[in-house]
Amino acid sequence: MKKLVFATNNSHKLSEIRAILGDRMEILSLSDIGCHDDIPEDAPTFEGNALAKAMWVKEKYGYDCFADDSGLEVDALGGAPGVYSARFCGRPHDDAGNNAMLLEKLAGAESRAARFRTAIALVVGENRHFFNGEIHGCILEAPAGDGGFGYDPLFRPDGWNHTFAQGTPEEKNAVSHRGRAVRALIDFLENNAI
Ligand code: IMP
Repeated sequence: MKKLVFATNNSHKLSEIRAILGDRMEILSLSDIGCHDDIPEDAPTFEGNALAKAMWVKEKYGYDCFADDSGLEVDALGGAPGVYSARFCGRPHDDAGNNAMLLEKLAGAESRAARFRTAIALVVGENRHFFNGEIHGCILEAPAGDGGFGYDPLFRPDGWNHTFAQGTPEEKNAVSHRGRAVRALIDFLENNAI
């Protein structure tokens, strides 16, 4: 069976994609291949970071691989926090701090329009393929809901009357940036002999 590494150790992301691909393909995590490296993510774009992670695995471990990178882009902040989404407040993965920083920076802003974006890079042999997903919405004045993670309590997708943090995981996956990018990747994997 074709083996493909997903450059992540996020068990939720792994089981989601394994369930969809079934026994058509074996999806390995970073720990499955003995990779415990702190892979640098310092590119200026989501695509660049996703490709850097996938190339790291390909070059160092020899496996075909895909990797993802996501974040929030806010119009009034010129696209920030973008690739700095996980550490906007200066501390990595401090969701409460990041949300507080976002509200502070948007105080008095005319536009609160924003979008989440995901880029996936797939490296197969010498070939590289990219898949993208985005969801547009706006940043509320105060957090609402306790589901999800990251900026979910502040993000209300266009057409919804509640935030991502107030929706169910299924409702979010159906429209989210990550859901869309993953479905584009899966469509490619199912329809191309790689
Ligand atoms: P990652 O590349 O998927 O790890 O996402 C990087 C950062 O972007 C996360 O740590 C969050 O701050 C933010 N982010 C990405 N996707 C989401 C989402 O679906 N909801 C809320 N925040 C997100």
